[in-house]
Amino acid sequence: MSHPVLTALGLQAVESGTYLGNGEWSKTSDAGVLEPVNPTTGEVLGRVQASSKADYDTIVERAQAAFKVWRTTPAPRRGEAIRLCADALRAHKDALGSLVALEMGKSKPEGDGEVQEMIDIGEFAVGLSRQLYGLTMHSERPGHRMYEQWHPIGLVGIISAFNFPVAVWAWNSFVAAVCGDISIWKPSPKTPLSAIASMKICNEALRKGGFPDIFFLFNDAGSELAQQFVDDKRIPLISFTGSTKVGRMVGENVARRMGRSLLELGGNNAIIVDETADLKLAIPAIAFGAVGTAGQRCTTTRRLIVHESVYDDVLAKLIAAYKQVEGKIGDPTDPKNLMGPLNSKDGVDAYLDAIAKAKAAGGKVETGGEAIDRPGNFVLPAIVTGLKNTDEIVQHETFAPILYVMKYTDLADAIDMQNAVPQGLSSSIFTTNLKRAEAFLSAAGSDCGIANVNIGTSGAEIGGAFGGEKETGGGRESGSDAWKAYMRRQTNTINYSDALPLAQGIKFDL
Ligand code: UN1
Repeated sequence: MSHPVLTALGLQAVESGTYLGNGEWSKTSDAGVLEPVNPTTGEVLGRVQASSKADYDTIVERAQAAFKVWRTTPAPRRGEAIRLCADALRAHKDALGSLVALEMGKSKPEGDGEVQEMIDIGEFAVGLSRQLYGLTMHSERPGHRMYEQWHPIGLVGIISAFNFPVAVWAWNSFVAAVCGDISIWKPSPKTPLSAIASMKICNEALRKGGFPDIFFLFNDAGSELAQQFVDDKRIPLISFTGSTKVGRMVGENVARRMGRSLLELGGNNAIIVDETADLKLAIPAIAFGAVGTAGQRCTTTRRLIVHESVYDDVLAKLIAAYKQVEGKIGDPTDPKNLMGPLNSKDGVDAYLDAIAKAKAAGGKVETGGEAIDRPGNFVLPAIVTGLKNTDEIVQHETFAPILYVMKYTDLADAIDMQNAVPQGLSSSIFTTNLKRAEAFLSAAGSDCGIANVNIGTSGAEIGGAFGGEKETGGGRESGSDAWKAYMRRQTNTINYSDALPLAQGIKFDL
């Protein structure tokens, strides 16, 4: 018997994990099976047939053929295809949001919010389809015109993580689609059902609208196909979201074949709270940032750097907020819960291991720090004090709800601490002092890709470019001009004169 959330989306107990194009899902049944587990109960949610090597080759060949047609389809017409996808997702928001909550384990409002991000990036991409602007330059030569234009890059490979099982695909594939690219998606093996449901919704919308295939999907039972994907010269861009460890290998392998990679890797995000901060804003922002999605966002708040004069007050208020959350931990598909389980048993082990290491380093667990004795992967969100920013465990991203709280005296030191980690994704300051806010955002301030004032580190809007520096990988996706990563730039010079002057005044008289 399928879970009702799966039935609502027309998913069967056994699903194909391979969309081959032409409305066809592969019948392969001998390439392994993925068994996504309900993190709330530990039960297997469904079976997904993994893709074979032959499936993969069919996908790449069909994607190459599809690209030949799609690249010359006018961009605003490509935008219309994405408008239909966004409309279809809007119609299925409740059901798909529930599936994301069920399979990933994030709360129902966050599951719905993730589908909303898909809709939002879809609408952004529709507008973008009329704004893929290039520049015009003034030539140094008479009778010459120079300009640049942006052409589609080709096939885009998307490897996404379990924590945002559907939105990250949409950020990449919808923007890539209006840019004229065809995308191939390999989702996390932990969340294949959310991926299959998203593909079904979008592909049906495209087919009804008379559009060709622009999205393909495969699932890998091991890592062989994923490795081939990363090494595949036919795929000029690989967009990878996941750990720094795997991302480093992806980046190296793609670079070796002179491909492009877009890397969205780990974060170790900090919030600074100064002595003028409005705690009515700061406390809920820290709690949501640290506890939301059970600490499994790249943008999760992992470090809190508090001015010594407000430290005791902030800590007491935060512990009280955590106690409130503790009463609302449970089945994530129940909309009244604020926190669900960790996605996997491995996640629970990593959480317990980090708590043990924090204690061994002299840390004090102020609240939480234990797994909850019930079925599923539930833990209590933890606050740890007494550690230094330089302690190894504080430098490390543990994908779980653990917040390290530290004190500072001078803002310059707080900013140095915020920056002194290998990762560089998101950062915030809570202050009502304009000079400090601007100092935090200045060239000498936060070194992260995202820096906020009086809002937390997580929950970025799709309109900005999303990504970070250092070991976060340097990629930018979603809004602003992140679309440029999905296109190739061409500089064009046109001579409309009767002479052939050379640039730099060079003479070449024959
Ligand atoms: C991620 O965790 O991989 O800013 C993405 C946020 C979300 C995206 C997170 N909009 O928290």
